[in-house]
Amino acid sequence: MTKLQAKKSDMPTTILAIESSCDETAVAILRYDGGVAEILSSEISSQIDIHREFGGVVPELASRNHSLHLRPLIEIALKNSGVAIDNIDAIGATAGPGLASSLLVGNSTAKAMAMAIGKPFISINHMEGHLLSPFMNRMTLEPNLALIVSGGHTMLIHMKAFGEYSLLGSTRDDAAGEAYDKVGKMLGLPYPGGPEIEKQACEGSIQAFKFPRSMLNDGLDFSFSGLKTAVLYQLEKLDPKQGQAPTDAIPDLCASFQQAVIEILVTKTMRAATQCGEKTISLSGGVSCNRALRNAMQKSCDEMGYELLISPPEVSTDNAAMIAFVALQRHLRGMQSSFHEDINPNLALV
Ligand code: KG4
Ligand code: ZN
Repeated sequence: MTKLQAKKSDMPTTILAIESSCDETAVAILRYDGGVAEILSSEISSQIDIHREFGGVVPELASRNHSLHLRPLIEIALKNSGVAIDNIDAIGATAGPGLASSLLVGNSTAKAMAMAIGKPFISINHMEGHLLSPFMNRMTLEPNLALIVSGGHTMLIHMKAFGEYSLLGSTRDDAAGEAYDKVGKMLGLPYPGGPEIEKQACEGSIQAFKFPRSMLNDGLDFSFSGLKTAVLYQLEKLDPKQGQAPTDAIPDLCASFQQAVIEILVTKTMRAATQCGEKTISLSGGVSCNRALRNAMQKSCDEMGYELLISPPEVSTDNAAMIAFVALQRHLRGMQSSFHEDINPNLALV
């Protein structure tokens, strides 16, 4: 078990972090004191309404809006936390993976701030933010089998300790969240599809349509593109001319699609846990907000006698508190990044 190591004289430590990898501009301030990490402020300026009319994220619009919103958001985060800029001990920022032009805005701003106040800059992998988010309310980072399910990634990771990660499985095509978003678009639901499909699924039957569970019995990798295509074919059957779902079929389509995704995610997670021998499972990323997924994962973990840690909903979708938490871990271990360290849109975690 990796304890959050107390700094030399156990002095409180305050981290400011910036996240701008996609379409959320986010700033958070985290205080570590007496072995406990507390989020003092976590501000998010979402661009969902701006990108909704395009049915997905438009990179140039995203970076322009990060530029517009970041500075006021930093001021709000400082004000709400009651921390003066001079009392920040280190500044963290996402360096990747994500959209290059979006990453550059947050990352460059963080470097400039760190230089101006003479404090360390810490470059953070966005996926490590998701990975550690289920541990934000704890004092220890336990070894665990992690499922990260977001809009860009679906990963099974064996976390042995802080910084010791091995990738056991990932998606060969679409990420789970991406499948939700694409199916949502096909069904004419607003972007992002995940929360909308979850809402519709509550009114539908999981048995209404039989959708494929690709690679269910085969290893630890995922494939969601066949499932997405199966929903498209079903739509064409329901309305051959338009390929659009009759309104009354939408809840059943959503429930049956969601059930297939959940069954795949839960089955592979349990298989990975058996394989690596961990009895603690962690669940993070935007899709982990989904209540049906959380319930199904909890049920399987209870049956297997595993402990399940799920990131709190407010740190499941993109946010800067999870970036600050990883920056804190590095800072407590005396790690910092060079100002020459570049962003990397394809930054790998393992
Ligand atoms: O982690 P995140 O905010 O951003 C990335 O790093 O990608 O995840 C966003 C993804 C989107 O695909 C969104 O549709 C999905 O998470 N999502 C959900 C739910 N809330 C967000 N998917 C299913 N059910 C939800 N309740
Ligand atoms: Zn994310």
